[in-house]
Amino acid sequence: MKTTATTIEVLTRPASLDHAGGADFVAAAELSNLVERVLWGNDDHYYSPQARYESSQPNDYEERVMFVARDGVVVVGKAVIDIPLIDNLGTCYVFVAVHPDYRRQGIGARLYRALEDHAREIGRTIIMAWTDEPAGFDASPANVMVPATGAGAFPRHCATTALALRNGFQLAQIDRCSVLLLDRSLPRADALARTAQKTAGQDYELVHWRDRCPEDLVEQYALLRQTMSTDVPMGDLDWEEEVWDAARIREGEDRLLRSGGHSLVRAVRHCPTGLLAGHTILEYQPEKPEVVSQDDTLVLRNHRGHRLGMWLKAANLLSVPSVWPEAQRVYTWNAEENAHMLAVNVELGFVPAGYTAAWQKKG
Ligand SMILES: CC(C)(COP(=O)(O)OP(=O)(O)OC[C@H]1O[C@@H](n2cnc3c(N)ncnc32)[C@H](O)[C@@H]1OP(=O)(O)O)[C@@H](O)C(=O)NCCC(=O)NCCS
Repeated sequence: MKTTATTIEVLTRPASLDHAGGADFVAAAELSNLVERVLWGNDDHYYSPQARYESSQPNDYEERVMFVARDGVVVVGKAVIDIPLIDNLGTCYVFVAVHPDYRRQGIGARLYRALEDHAREIGRTIIMAWTDEPAGFDASPANVMVPATGAGAFPRHCATTALALRNGFQLAQIDRCSVLLLDRSLPRADALARTAQKTAGQDYELVHWRDRCPEDLVEQYALLRQTMSTDVPMGDLDWEEEVWDAARIREGEDRLLRSGGHSLVRAVRHCPTGLLAGHTILEYQPEKPEVVSQDDTLVLRNHRGHRLGMWLKAANLLSVPSVWPEAQRVYTWNAEENAHMLAVNVELGFVPAGYTAAWQKKG
């Protein structure tokens, strides 16, 4: 659809979705869902407006500013800048989406400029962005870009790559998005969990919780979450160590619950010291009951090599049918150079569904 008078302005977060501005917030949320559906051909990456509203709630750790592009009163584009507040203080994370009927008219470029202007105003000099492509693209050398890590590839000739390169971003890393079908993979997970447990031996035991980490583990769990920010391969991204404490854990748990979501966490304890040595997180939104998201998995460095990563992941997946009986698929994202984690995932039955380019602009 051709538009001549698109306006771009900040969308102030409404007091609730029923208050003034709520309808625009819902329109912007549904635009994100439409863009995901068009890209992936399914609704597996859907988040309700309420869930997106909760994610945008200001907190001590991150602030979000949203811009919308309007054609008259209709929201036809959105742009989001997330600003970390207690670590990574020179950095911000951005996202731009334009309604498929309004593309190739310069709206994406204008929305991006609004984000970059804002980043400059608040003194952020490192801008990161992530863009997705479903698997199955032509990966011949002329058609893809490869990051300096040499791991993975991303289409050279597509809208997001064009927008990123045009605005001075560099390709910093490729993540693989993988999906696992529970009915096919759980029988295998059972055997893998048993073998891994045997390898781990008597020194380790698993603990688990739903939605809220037990009070006596929360400080240790915060340390594991902080270690995720240093021990996972980050390619060329200038990612600094995050700062995690019990309050940050609780803020994330409360936000997930407010959005209607749930988590299932397994951690492994090193019995001789009584300390947690690793963890893995699954998240779930009942509004898309077939889909589970596999988030962090970490084993601390001095506990690696005992199959703890496999044991954690397989054990957590095995409990999915009893906790979320309607679940059918699990999605996860891993750096293409993260050979150990990818090997565990492939053994469990994850197969590639797509690729994510991590882009970075400095200065
Ligand atoms: C990426 C996206 C925001 C671009 O929006 P848009 O309004 O069509 O972009 P513009 O018209 O402003 O074009 C920006 C640049 O990209 C180029 N471009 C846009 N679509 C293109 C395509 N399909 N193929 C090649 N180049 C393309 C334009 O030519 C322009 O470059 P130029 O300034 O050198 O002329 C839009 O395609 C989209 O919403 N994609 C899905 C959401 C997404 O993945 N967002 C990225 C996450 S940050």
